[in-house]
Amino acid sequence: MQITRRDALVGLARTTAALLLAGDVRAQGAPLIRRTIPSSGETMPVIGLGTARRYEAASTAADLAPLRDTLRRLKQVGATVIDSSPTYGTAEAVVGDLVDELKIRDGLFLATKVSIGGREAGIQQIEQSFKKYKTPKLDLIAVHNLRDTDAHLKTLRDLKQAGRIRYIGITSSFENQYVDFEAVMKRETLDFIQIDYALDNRNADERLLPLAKDRGMGVMTNLPFGRGRLFNAVQGKPLPTWAAEFDCKTWAQFFLKYIVGHEAVTCAIPGMAKAEYVDDNIGAAQGRLPDAAMRKRMEAFIDAA
Ligand SMILES: NC(=O)c1ccc[n+]([C@@H]2O[C@H](COP(=O)([O-])OP(=O)(O)OC[C@H]3O[C@@H](n4cnc5c(N)ncnc54)[C@H](OP(=O)(O)O)[C@@H]3O)[C@@H](O)[C@H]2O)c1
Repeated sequence: MQITRRDALVGLARTTAALLLAGDVRAQGAPLIRRTIPSSGETMPVIGLGTARRYEAASTAADLAPLRDTLRRLKQVGATVIDSSPTYGTAEAVVGDLVDELKIRDGLFLATKVSIGGREAGIQQIEQSFKKYKTPKLDLIAVHNLRDTDAHLKTLRDLKQAGRIRYIGITSSFENQYVDFEAVMKRETLDFIQIDYALDNRNADERLLPLAKDRGMGVMTNLPFGRGRLFNAVQGKPLPTWAAEFDCKTWAQFFLKYIVGHEAVTCAIPGMAKAEYVDDNIGAAQGRLPDAAMRKRMEAFIDAA
């Protein structure tokens, strides 16, 4: 049988299409990128979920339905980290109830904060967190926004010693706290810090992220999209073609891959109250990540946007 040039071209096109499809299927089901928690050697996927705002006032069936779908999807895709706070209204209780209802507690990494003045008040607030989260053991409790840090770190260490929590830390999202935050990082032994860090909000990488790496602290990053700020900055703009060089298909993945491309970052915790956000954002934990040169290019791009 003679193979014509046309037959050869059709065959090539079919093979290419099959390879592209296989590549796409592989990318969707690709294993999640995980990072090691320095103090334990345990690993966690680099994308988790934050519960500020959208979980704060959820009480009706209509409020809860999308949150249930979101948590179910989070578990299905293999993400584990959920961050909350007693200051986020109904958030801890909503997560606790839905996790219980969906029977998905195993393997989740439940994090919350202590956020109140005074040692006794802190102890009571933490006990409420165990109740609302419906769990005898929490994975991480951090002192929120450096509020009464010394008093609460003592309580958190006692709880860790007693085996009721696994990790302790501190959080902030305010640049005017960075000097004090750095001082606490230098004098205390902490498993985690949580700090604001985003493609257009990079000051944490000057001192805090390198210090976390030096001190062996895990890093969770909050406000990865600056709430809506980054999406607004690129509204109507196409994703640059070079984003494909690090397997990035959407703006959300662009912003998140920048963050988790930093070697000190353990996990970013975008706020997600829709299952489709989970499907999108989990793509940032798959495929290639931008290297240092590519991250500089991303910074230049957003600075010019
Ligand atoms: N000091 C602290 O400890 C501190 C401070 C701040 C935040 N945090 C933690 O950090 C988490 C993250 O911060 P955040 O939730 O305030 O802000 P964020 O993660 O920067 O932005 C969240 C918002 O981005 C939008 N979004 C998420 N995924 C998207 C996607 N794939 N496509 C398009 N839009 C998407 C959603 O907006 P819509 O819902 O409007 O659609 C969502 O509410 C918080 O939930 C909280 O757990 C901690």
